[in-house]
Amino acid sequence: MKRLTIPAIRQRKKDGVTTQPVVMLTAYTARQAQLLDAHCDLLLVGDSLGQVIYGLPSSVPVTLDMMAAHGAAVVRGSYHAAVVVDMPFGSYEASPQAAFESASRLLKETGCAAVKLEGGEAMAETVAFLTARGIPVMGHVGLTPQAVNVLGGYNARGRSEAEAAKIVGDAKALADAGAFAIVIEGVVEPIAIAITQAVPCPTIGIGASAQCDGQVLVTEDMLGMFERVPRFVKIYENIAETISGAAARYADEVRSRAFPGIEQTYQPK
Ligand code: KIV
Ligand code: NA
Repeated sequence: MKRLTIPAIRQRKKDGVTTQPVVMLTAYTARQAQLLDAHCDLLLVGDSLGQVIYGLPSSVPVTLDMMAAHGAAVVRGSYHAAVVVDMPFGSYEASPQAAFESASRLLKETGCAAVKLEGGEAMAETVAFLTARGIPVMGHVGLTPQAVNVLGGYNARGRSEAEAAKIVGDAKALADAGAFAIVIEGVVEPIAIAITQAVPCPTIGIGASAQCDGQVLVTEDMLGMFERVPRFVKIYENIAETISGAAARYADEVRSRAFPGIEQTYQPK
């Protein structure tokens, strides 16, 4: 199976129409990537790994080293989907040159096909700079979690007219700069629809709209790993119960000496 390419993803949307929606899920580990790969067009090594697997309070403390290690694992575990790695906070905002240094490191060390960064108009120059130098960029607008300290929380964006216009302008600026796709996160639905109609590249929604050109979820969220998830998450399976149930049965069997049984022990001939 040949890996999907970034131009192939970009071409899913032709003349404003997407007949085959783009399927994206997050992956942080090789085994997770193996299980998701065949079903997805894109695997995102999201900086959400900060909260999801490192227990950090936000994605702000996530480092380039963490993204490089998990990105490499996901590339090793996948064959079909194109792998996109998030640029962590602090690794790209200062200048296009700083962004290129960080992004090229991610491409070299992980084998990923593209990077994603947060922000709109302020990042447009950087998106153009990277794209012109061989690094495809996915944009991310609306609720941008790395900006939590400026936004003051994770509430849906675009409820005022001014904020809505700003987010649409951000998405257009990224598209003009050459972003191959744009994640739209946590915005009121009419904004997601307006952006999807306004930009030539695919939009990928999360807490956005079914009319986006694709969708993404954090895999652990949709697997029911957490007690509290945002309203935009649909829980497809309750893995937390499965895991804690298995741990409870194992603990019982260790305490009652029912495990290991004869099948799990080596006996002399
Ligand atoms: O970090 C992440 O998982 C993301 C997606 C939610 C889009 O950026
Ligand atoms: Na992210």
